[in-house]
Amino acid sequence: MADGKLAGRTALVFGAGSIGPGWGNGKAAAVAYARAGATVVSIDTNEAAAQETAALIRAENGRTLALTCDVTEMADVETCVRRALDTFGGIDILHNNVGHAGMGGPVDLTEDQWLREIDINLNSMFRTCKAVLPQMLKQKRGVITNISSSAGIRYTGYPYASYYASKGGVNQFTVGLGLQYARDGIRCNAILPGLMDTPLIYAQIVGQYKSVEDMQAARHAATPPGRMGTAWDVAHAAVFLASDDAAYINAVCLPVDGGLTARCV
Ligand SMILES: NC(=O)c1ccc[n+]([C@@H]2O[C@H](COP(=O)([O-])OP(=O)(O)OC[C@H]3O[C@@H](n4cnc5c(N)ncnc54)[C@H](O)[C@@H]3O)[C@@H](O)[C@H]2O)c1
Repeated sequence: MADGKLAGRTALVFGAGSIGPGWGNGKAAAVAYARAGATVVSIDTNEAAAQETAALIRAENGRTLALTCDVTEMADVETCVRRALDTFGGIDILHNNVGHAGMGGPVDLTEDQWLREIDINLNSMFRTCKAVLPQMLKQKRGVITNISSSAGIRYTGYPYASYYASKGGVNQFTVGLGLQYARDGIRCNAILPGLMDTPLIYAQIVGQYKSVEDMQAARHAATPPGRMGTAWDVAHAAVFLASDDAAYINAVCLPVDGGLTARCV
């Protein structure tokens, strides 16, 4: 681990837990960063989930700190960043994973529900970047990776207007930051997962289908390779983007979707 691609780096992963048993994108990314040698700050609103990811990292002799934080609260985010800096002295990687797929369009959602979805998916990334960027600017080094979605560039078949809007916003937020800070040694990219088989879909997507089996079969069939992706597909892309192997990759919205968004039928 200590001689991995990310040795000596500190990664903050917001949304490092998993909404249910198994591997979510954030949990896998946190563990993958640690396997690549990074020190990982495992941050989640669910304390047990943050602790569980940290325990997995420790079990593999990784260095980690678990923190509780609600990314819809600026003060919470600032406290987390301060704790991370006090403990480890720097922040090399900011990984924004928190996201929620709330179904409904303007007729179904209240204004408050709409604003809440945008707050969790998009404004949260403004908050974490606001708290972390001054440190990265001081260091003249840093990588920000935002977890977006194929829904940021395509209609995916689900009636989640706020998700399309917020993930589209995440993409252009990413591009804007990547270019604004390119001469400061900071890179900012987004990963656009496609149809992934993670605990999130059993909590937030399954209601769109008759049964779990129906959802699994339909999602597998909808992908070009005939199978959904996994959290590890996202995690491995994140490790690559954070590493020096990707030193010249900036302001990119990278689909990790088996070719889903490249297809026209
Ligand atoms: N699974 C898919 O098919 C898929 C596809 C495209 C994009 N994504 C994106 O992947 C990301 C989530 O993936 P995951 O599998 O890790 O999901 P997950 O729901 O399993 O994990 C997200 C974690 O974020 C935490 N969280 C929720 N609200 C929070 C808040 N306000 N503050 C701090 N933490 C909070 C949850 O407790 C949870 O542990 C989202 O951005 C989602 O839009 C997923």
